[in-house]
Amino acid sequence: MFENFKKSLFLKNDLEELENYIKGFVSDFDGILQEALSNTLLAGGKRIRPALFLICAKNEEYDVKYLIPAAAAIEFLHTASLIHDDIIDKSLLRRGRKTIHNIYDKDTARYVGDYLFTYSFFLLNTYRNSKILREMSDTSQLLVIGEFDQIKTKKILDQSEATYIEKINEKTSSLFKLSCVLGGILSGSSDDDIENLRKFGGYLGIAFQINDDLIDININKPKEKLDKPIGNDIRQGNVTLPLIYALKNKNFKEKIESLIDNSEAIDDDRAKRIISMIYETDAIKLSRQKIYFYLKEAKKVIKLINCPGRKNGLIEICDLLLNSIEKTK
Ligand code: IPE
Ligand code: IPE
Ligand code: MG
Ligand code: MG
Repeated sequence: MFENFKKSLFLKNDLEELENYIKGFVSDFDGILQEALSNTLLAGGKRIRPALFLICAKNEEYDVKYLIPAAAAIEFLHTASLIHDDIIDKSLLRRGRKTIHNIYDKDTARYVGDYLFTYSFFLLNTYRNSKILREMSDTSQLLVIGEFDQIKTKKILDQSEATYIEKINEKTSSLFKLSCVLGGILSGSSDDDIENLRKFGGYLGIAFQINDDLIDININKPKEKLDKPIGNDIRQGNVTLPLIYALKNKNFKEKIESLIDNSEAIDDDRAKRIISMIYETDAIKLSRQKIYFYLKEAKKVIKLINCPGRKNGLIEICDLLLNSIEKTK
C-alpha cells in the first residue's frame, strides 16, 4: 500500500529534504550502530507521520528547514517504536529487511531503539518549547501503555471493539496525533485548530491501524511485495478488529477456540487456517466499513481547521489511505 505515497503527496520536495537529513544523520555513525540505523531508517518507510506533521505546519511562513528536525524526530520516535515492537512481536522482517533483533540480537535492537528514542527528545528540545516536550512525553508514555495493553490482552477472544479501539488509540493514534499537534504548535496555530488537528490525527490513526490489521491477514499478497511478515498478529495471538468481527460468527468462534491454545505462539499452519476462516465471515467487509467511517470522521474535522493549504493536504492524505485500503481478497 501507499507505494507512490511519497511521490504523489504535494510536499514531495520537502520529504526529499527529510530523506537527505536522515541520510546525513546515519552517516555520522560508524560500526554496528550505523549499519543498524541504515537497515531501518534507510530501508524505506512511508514517512506518513512526518508528512502529516509538515502538512499541519503549513501557513504563509512555512519554512521547511526550520521544521525538518521535528519531522525527523517524529520519524525516529516511530522507528524506535517499530524496532521495539518487532522484538515484542518476534517479527523477522521490517521494511523489506531483516529486523534488527534478527540480524544482531535483542539487546542490540533494544539499544538502537533507545538511542533513536532519546535522540528524538534531543531534536525536539532544540525548539525550546515546553508544550512540545509535554506532548512528546505524553505520546511516548501512551505508546508504551498501548504495547503493554496488547500483551495483556493477547489471546483473549471475548474482547470488545471498544477495548481494541482504546489499544490502537494508545499504540498508533497517539503518534498520529503528536504529528498533527506539533505541526499546529510550530506554525503558531490557535488552540482550537490544534485541538482539531489532534482529533483529526486520532481518527486517521485508527483508520490506518485497522488497515494495517487487514494487511496482516492478506495471505494472497505476493512474497516479493512483502515488507513485513503476514499472519504475525494471528501467530502472536494479537486480537485485531477483523478477528473480533469474525468472532461474532458462532461457527467461527467454536472452531477457533480449538485452534488457539496456551502454547507460546500459534504455528504457521493454524494461523493460515484461522485466516482462511476469517475470510469466510463478513469480518473483512465490516473492517473496511470501519475504516471508511473513521476517514469520514477525519474529513468532518478538516472542515473546522483553518488554512486552505493544510486542509487540502489533509484531504489528500485521507484519500491516499482510502485508495490503498488493503485489497485482501
Ligand atoms: C507500522 O507503521 C506500524 C503501525 C502503526 C501500523 P507504518 O506502516 O507507517 O510503517 P513504515 O514507517 O511505513 O515502515
Ligand atoms: C503498531 O502495531 C506498532 C506500534 C505502534 C509500535 P503493529 O504491531 O500492528 O505494527 P506492525 O504490523 O508490526 O508494523
Ligand atoms: Mg508489530
Ligand atoms: Mg500490524
